[in-house]
Amino acid sequence: MFLFYLGLFWTLLINMTAAQSKFTPVRPPSLPLAVKSPYLSTWFPAGSEGGNGGYLPGQWPTFWTGQITGWAGLIRVDGNAFIWMGAPKDINTANQVAYEYTSTRSIFTIEVDGKISMKITFLSPLTPNDFKRQSLIFSYMQVEVSSLDGANHDVQLYTDISAEWVSGDHGDVAQWDFGTTDDISYHRVWKQIPMLFSEKSDQSEWGNIYYATDSADGLTYQSGADNDVRGAFARDGKLANSKDSNFRAINSNWPVFAYAVDLGSVGSSATSTLFSIGLCQNEAIQFLGKDGVTTLPSLWKSYFSDDFAALSFFHKDYSESSRLSTELDDKVAKDSIAAAGENYLILTSLAARQAFGAVQLVGTSDKPYLFLKEISSNGNTQTVDVVYPASPIFLYTNPELLKLLLDPHFENQEAGHYPHKWSIHDLGTHYPNATGHPDGNDEWMPLEECGNMLIMLLAYVQRSKNTDYIRAHYPMLKQWAEYLVEDSLYPANQLSTDDFAGPLLNQTNLALKGMIGLEGMSQISSLIGEDADSKNYTDIAHDYITQWMDLGTNKEDNPPHTILNYGNWSTHGLLYNLYNDALLKTNLVPESIYTQQSNFYPTVKKNYGVPLDTRHDYTKSDWEVFVAAVASIETRDMFLGDLARWVGETTTSKPFTDLYETVNGRHPNGIEFKARPVMGGMFALLALP
Ligand SMILES: *[C@@H]1O[C@H](CO)[C@@H](O)[C@H](O)[C@H]1NC(C)=O
Ligand SMILES: *[C@@H]1O[C@H](CO)[C@@H](O)[C@H](O)[C@H]1NC(C)=O
Ligand SMILES: *[C@@H]1O[C@H](CO)[C@@H](O)[C@H](O)[C@H]1NC(C)=O
Ligand SMILES: *[C@@H]1O[C@H](CO)[C@@H](O)[C@H](O)[C@H]1NC(C)=O
Repeated sequence: MFLFYLGLFWTLLINMTAAQSKFTPVRPPSLPLAVKSPYLSTWFPAGSEGGNGGYLPGQWPTFWTGQITGWAGLIRVDGNAFIWMGAPKDINTANQVAYEYTSTRSIFTIEVDGKISMKITFLSPLTPNDFKRQSLIFSYMQVEVSSLDGANHDVQLYTDISAEWVSGDHGDVAQWDFGTTDDISYHRVWKQIPMLFSEKSDQSEWGNIYYATDSADGLTYQSGADNDVRGAFARDGKLANSKDSNFRAINSNWPVFAYAVDLGSVGSSATSTLFSIGLCQNEAIQFLGKDGVTTLPSLWKSYFSDDFAALSFFHKDYSESSRLSTELDDKVAKDSIAAAGENYLILTSLAARQAFGAVQLVGTSDKPYLFLKEISSNGNTQTVDVVYPASPIFLYTNPELLKLLLDPHFENQEAGHYPHKWSIHDLGTHYPNATGHPDGNDEWMPLEECGNMLIMLLAYVQRSKNTDYIRAHYPMLKQWAEYLVEDSLYPANQLSTDDFAGPLLNQTNLALKGMIGLEGMSQISSLIGEDADSKNYTDIAHDYITQWMDLGTNKEDNPPHTILNYGNWSTHGLLYNLYNDALLKTNLVPESIYTQQSNFYPTVKKNYGVPLDTRHDYTKSDWEVFVAAVASIETRDMFLGDLARWVGETTTSKPFTDLYETVNGRHPNGIEFKARPVMGGMFALLALP
């Protein structure tokens, strides 16, 4: 009897665990698969609003926007086929038991029929100090297979991609071919009529998508209609080595580009198969710089003669690329845990690929640039107040990357392409166009952007010691500083970076950015021996901050706190610009303000965090981490703990949003910020000196 119950207990336990995957460190809203640039950005929706909980078998991967980028995986074990990725029709799904993410990897463990164990590693390498590797728009998928039950099994592996990878408009006609180069087999897919520098649903409409693997024994390939090709594999365990030459619309009998690998008899030692997926575009960006509008090539063109050389290098570089990525994973893990513990690592390691996945190295090896897409908020190019919240990850991993983001701004404005005396907001209404705003009709955020430019420049120079950078741009820096002198004490009615909340006058937090920007300008001047300027700017900054302490603080409240805007005593907000004072070591703001804010935030916290300000219950996770970085340990841990819990519990299913409701954890009505580079701000603690 006892044995019977014990047996029943174990059966129940096994059935229960069979349905559930472990998620380490947590189940994020969307799992990064191939996330490498604004146009190679495939994710797996997990949160319940549009996702399946994070189970690779049974649902399609998607572009960051949500449209499907078909990517399928099947396995045949002793003659029976199972799905391990995607949602092909009429085939049983295998059983996911674990998912884990690091800064560069998503790793799934999947069990097939109780017989075979699979470990699928999606690696989007990050090599911030190695531009040759970082410039390649490619990502790996490694599939390891071994016996689960100790017996040997007859195994064939299958994977395909659909033509959905080449356009956001599925009625568009795709073309494709298959070939080999350097012992590598590749499927190449492109839009039959490419449209240079154009997007549809945020996907790029030019360039070649490659799906490649080793030309090993036992490899077969096929292009053709999805159900036919997948059906052939499920039935035969191999493909016909045939090409479908009926080029057609992406959604017309859904052409797919497939491989099958006969792994033969698989025992307990793992066999591994490597796939590379990527996008090759010769031309990357249209830029209005010192020579007028020019076309900037992808930076990898400086290192590789053509697509095939790039593909071959990438595919054969797996062990080195993997080693460098592990180095980064380990560094982020060690530093995050040392800075603020495991909750903090949940945030940094999820943000790393997302932040780097919104930027792209372009230009030439002697004049490289880093271009950034604002992504979901509206697709602007090189937005200053998006570069700014993203900047901590670049300051932490390689400050030169921040310089490469600032360079195009200086080049554009110093060439006289912007008519206003304040800093431009962005370099183009839509990526990949960085054709500026010669008419001056950008989204004005004058105080915000002047402050951001001065702060980012100084943060870069302090870390690089590159004072020549100041000399090269001093007149422009002074022009922006003059604007701060004019506007920071009583900021005019204007937008701050939180433009979705609307304009407001006399914003306390915005004023603080201007004042720290001025104190930063004093340091900038002093670094190149402009001592009179330095003295003048620090005098002004100190005069302003003394007045700001009275104008911007409600001292009567218990506990006291800064207010949203002057005279509006019952308001409050996240004073995230205080972070700059610590980042630059300007020591402009008295310690009492740091303490006051640390004591105040816990009194207004909601379930998942502290609202951005008194206008709404939503908050911005990037600003929460900026605030946490300069708070007391208790308050810091409150912010990081709530945010890490939100990551694991939120019902949102789009890549890591920076704007969410603190009460229910959802996107605010009508605003879905997702996949934005601003999550580089998760690294705010690690960017501090
Ligand atoms: C970029 O500019 C070109 C014109 O030069 C235009 O055809 C294209 O649609 C623009 N791209 C986007 C994404 O707006
Ligand atoms: C800004 O605040 C100051 C000080 O409270 C006030 O005198 C001024 O009127 C405000 N500005 C505007 C435009 O309301
Ligand atoms: C200090 O800066 C202010 C504001 O930009 C300017 O009007 C003034 O002439 C400067 N003074 C000196 C001594 O440079
Ligand atoms: C005071 O703050 C509230 C938000 O709490 C805002 O809606 C309102 O516009 C502000 N009032 C003024 C006069 O700026």
